[in-house]
Amino acid sequence: MAAAITGGVRQVVILGAGLDTYAYRSTPVSGLRIFEVDHPATQAWKRRCLGDAGIPIPAGLTFAPVDFQRETLRSGLARTGFDSLQPAFFSWLGVVPYLPRDAVFATLGFIASLSGGAAVVFDYSNPLTERASGERASAREALAARVAGLGEPFKSYFETEALRHRLSVLGFGHMEDLGPEQIRARFFAGSAATGSDWGGHVVLAAQSR
Ligand SMILES: C[S@@+](CC[C@H](N)C(=O)[O-])C[C@H]1O[C@@H](n2cnc3c(N)ncnc32)[C@H](O)[C@@H]1O
Repeated sequence: MAAAITGGVRQVVILGAGLDTYAYRSTPVSGLRIFEVDHPATQAWKRRCLGDAGIPIPAGLTFAPVDFQRETLRSGLARTGFDSLQPAFFSWLGVVPYLPRDAVFATLGFIASLSGGAAVVFDYSNPLTERASGERASAREALAARVAGLGEPFKSYFETEALRHRLSVLGFGHMEDLGPEQIRARFFAGSAATGSDWGGHVVLAAQSR
């Protein structure tokens, strides 16, 4: 996202924003518009939290309440002044694993179709393989059971190569996929936290320009 903004992108869409704080803590960038898209109930709660905490709403921030079970991202964004003819960067973190595959690819297809140019970053997990160690399989199953118990079960896993192919077919010509080891090396090198050797992937997919 930082690289996209440095490169001139002036529309950032935070999909399934939840309590994401980017809009409130980042240094203002001239002309940058940030769109927080989220379920209306979550967004209303966040806005109450922001008010209670005395955190002001930045000038360039637009709230886009969208229930993806009732409305498409395309129509939700169209109501907010989002300009599909201008470049945009989408941050979609912590959401894809909870959605059915069709919904994931519908949203990615929309992003890939934007004529102003677009890129998206999202996270996903590989399905467990036969080779997964007992410890790794148990940790994954415990996590899946915990989120299911909270009423938000994991609904989709993706094989990295199959996902890469699908993204390419959708029109994303540039992809960068970081697995757990690469994430640790890039973002946590030198950190005291060693972490485990399993976990999700983060992928950047950008349209061919
Ligand atoms: C696990 S949170 C992730 C929040 C944030 N992106 C983060 O990384 O901390 C999942 C988000 O998806 C949103 N969400 C779930 N179902 C939705 C729906 N049907 N329509 C719109 N947003 C939905 C929730 O409101 C929540 O903000």
